[in-house]
Amino acid sequence: MKVGLLMRATARAFTNIALIKYWGKRDETLFLPMNSSLSLTLDKFYTTTSVEFCSCLSSDVFVINNQLGDVKEVNKITRFLDKVRKLSGKSLKAVVNTTNNVPTAAGFASSASGYAALAAAATKAIGMNLNPDSLSRLARQGSGSACRSIHGGLVEWQKGEKEDGTDSFAKPIEEGQDWDISIFSVQLTSEPKAVSSRDGMKRTVETSPFYSGWLAGVEKDLLLAKEAIKTRDFALLGNIVEGNALKMHATTLGADPPFMYWSSATMDVIHEVQTLRTMGIQAFFTIDAGPNVKVLCLPKDEQIVYDVLGKLAKVEDIYLCHQGPGITYISNSNR
Ligand code: ADP
Ligand code: DP6
Repeated sequence: MKVGLLMRATARAFTNIALIKYWGKRDETLFLPMNSSLSLTLDKFYTTTSVEFCSCLSSDVFVINNQLGDVKEVNKITRFLDKVRKLSGKSLKAVVNTTNNVPTAAGFASSASGYAALAAAATKAIGMNLNPDSLSRLARQGSGSACRSIHGGLVEWQKGEKEDGTDSFAKPIEEGQDWDISIFSVQLTSEPKAVSSRDGMKRTVETSPFYSGWLAGVEKDLLLAKEAIKTRDFALLGNIVEGNALKMHATTLGADPPFMYWSSATMDVIHEVQTLRTMGIQAFFTIDAGPNVKVLCLPKDEQIVYDVLGKLAKVEDIYLCHQGPGITYISNSNR
């Protein structure tokens, strides 16, 4: 009996939350960003993805959270797998089975963990052993923020200068790896957002008069944030992170048509974080593309921050996160 070649692998990637945001592309096909960014990979939210390539398939199959993906989602996966096929020189179709241990498309960065896990599982399954820089470059081409989820802890995505994107990938910030920062993921809704990050940043780049203001300040924010990490200056880091998020969201108000990711519940959390600071607690917020809020504090203040935010009527759930790991391979049966 002839035994078929097994080309299957499973990988897990954790979500990351941007402390200095990636907001805007200079090349939409290659996912090249206008600015560099900085993130923290979390330990609570993750995606597990299995990929199996097989000569028995005539097209790719995509199953997400136990349901067949719709045509639009399958096309996205196929476009990404085409890049993997091109890199490997193989043309086999695949079954992708993925589960998000995080709400999908709700501002909790499912696209980051999703494409990081897919890049890792697909390359392993097809028989490639990419180094972390190459894996990050590949994940970037599924979703920009995914290039940061290849690594654990504090991570910088250097935007790069080259037109072909070979210098645009993420690296861990070594000085930050043992800094224990607490992040509360404050869930206000787990519903998918009306404007995706992809569409939102595109509209902002193309139409918002405030976008030039964003670009004028973001690299300085990044430098100061890295300095704060180096010197373990939490108040400086928090202030920079909060200001950077506010500037990103301000650009959306000037877009045409304008949009905003915040809800009234988002404002309630912002106000509560500001109140905490008047009480002498160093807590700072950041918000990605969606109404949910992430709140940074030091481990010693976790209880008070949890108690205060937990009392808010519109808070559905609060998850306490710390630094999480980079890509983890769960199984590999390529042989
Ligand atoms: P989020 O805040 O969750 O990252 P986005 O709108 O940026 O929201 O991205 C959501 C999109 O990411 C989904 O519509 C889907 O296309 C993709 N995505 C999410 N999870 C996965 C996954 N596990 N595997 C592949 N793609 C995924
Ligand atoms: C606000 O990485 O989801 O979360 O590259 O188009 O897939 P695409 O966008 P995505 O955008 C993330 C935007 C952000 C900021 C960030 O994570 O840096």
